[in-house]
Amino acid sequence: MAYVIASGCIDVKDGACVKCCPVDCIYEGVRTLYIHPDECISCGICVSVCPTEAIHDEAELPPAQAVFAAVNREFFARHVSGVGSPGGADYVGPQACDHPVVEAYPVRSEP
Ligand code: F3S
Repeated sequence: MAYVIASGCIDVKDGACVKCCPVDCIYEGVRTLYIHPDECISCGICVSVCPTEAIHDEAELPPAQAVFAAVNREFFARHVSGVGSPGGADYVGPQACDHPVVEAYPVRSEP
């Protein structure tokens, strides 16, 4: 079961999770980051370093955040970023798009 980045990352993008991920499976969008569900090895290291507690085990997502399992998965699809499964975020770099759910999310005004 992969880990999922939920709404706490939107407009924050702290980046600590990227630095500690041993398989480089955390990809950058415009307003948030996304964990690749097929590349994540479920080690859970990222969970402890995120300052906004945005990262959850997919099986333990709070009900209000449940949509983010699909958000993380669909981000990589052809109809969203088209990134597919390149085997590491470094291969593709930051993407100039977000999942539609993230695009529609209210802008966070507080730092
Ligand atoms: Fe976002 Fe937390 Fe990573 S804010 S970039 S999920 S450390």
